[in-house]
Amino acid sequence: MTLTQVFPETGAQPDISSAYAWPVHGTWVRAMMVMSLDGAISGSDGRSGSISSPTDRLIMKQVRSFSDVVLIGASTMRAEKYSPMKVLPEILEERRSQGLDDASVTAIVSASLDLPWELPVFSESYRQPIVITTSICDEAAAIEASKHCELIRVTDINSNPGAIVDVLTDMGLKRIVCEGGARLLGDLTKAGRVDEFDVAISPTLANNGQALLHADFDAPQKLKLAHVLQDEGFLFTRYLRADSAKSA
Ligand SMILES: NC(=O)c1ccc[n+]([C@@H]2O[C@H](COP(=O)([O-])OP(=O)(O)OC[C@H]3O[C@@H](n4cnc5c(N)ncnc54)[C@H](OP(=O)(O)O)[C@@H]3O)[C@@H](O)[C@H]2O)c1
Repeated sequence: MTLTQVFPETGAQPDISSAYAWPVHGTWVRAMMVMSLDGAISGSDGRSGSISSPTDRLIMKQVRSFSDVVLIGASTMRAEKYSPMKVLPEILEERRSQGLDDASVTAIVSASLDLPWELPVFSESYRQPIVITTSICDEAAAIEASKHCELIRVTDINSNPGAIVDVLTDMGLKRIVCEGGARLLGDLTKAGRVDEFDVAISPTLANNGQALLHADFDAPQKLKLAHVLQDEGFLFTRYLRADSAKSA
């Protein structure tokens, strides 16, 4: 890995842990995504790993390591088949000193509750995954889901997706890394609840027509460039919401 900092120019070798530090106070939602040059978010296998790189995975691991919660949409869980979040012995003391639980929890947004309950993430995680659904979900599906996860019903996450962030904050889960997909990220962005976009640009043409996020904005949203790192043709960008009162 020969990670270099393109912007802001410092002349120093970037340190991933400080380049991707979390703000100390308050709720912070950072979107963590990899995108091909033609705007796709997965390769021809329908998964993001095929457009990713070892450095991309290292950065994702670092961001997860000091997060409270990894938030994803149900289709991402169905496509990517997430594994349990690891309790990393080497960072345990540091997590505890920052007031974090011993491992991040996985949170999944799903209206259908059609999730792969047989995956180890539901039976072997340090903390049982949280599934956020609507109050009008199917009762039989909710009973089944409750056997495998901490099921949270929110009045209307379709018209008020910001409630997803509010419910996690109320549970004390404030460092939220949203790893997609396009539908969930679009809903949270339109609701003005994404503070930061950590987007890796992969030197790949994927040709599968999937965009980074799905949202029909009324007007273009302005973001502030925080950094650009590069490694082996990958650009790792970090953009902050320009109108956010908070700073990272
Ligand atoms: N490149 C990357 O970094 C990256 C990262 C993550 C994912 N991906 C890719 O993204 C693709 C999946 O993206 P996607 O846009 O199709 O799906 P998604 O956003 O992962 O999930 C959509 C599903 O989540 C639930 N959901 C999301 N927002 C909701 C809301 N506001 N209200 C109610 N339910 C909500 C619904 O679940 P139900 O259907 O269960 O009702 C919905 O069908 C996969 O191919 C994955 O590999 C790429």
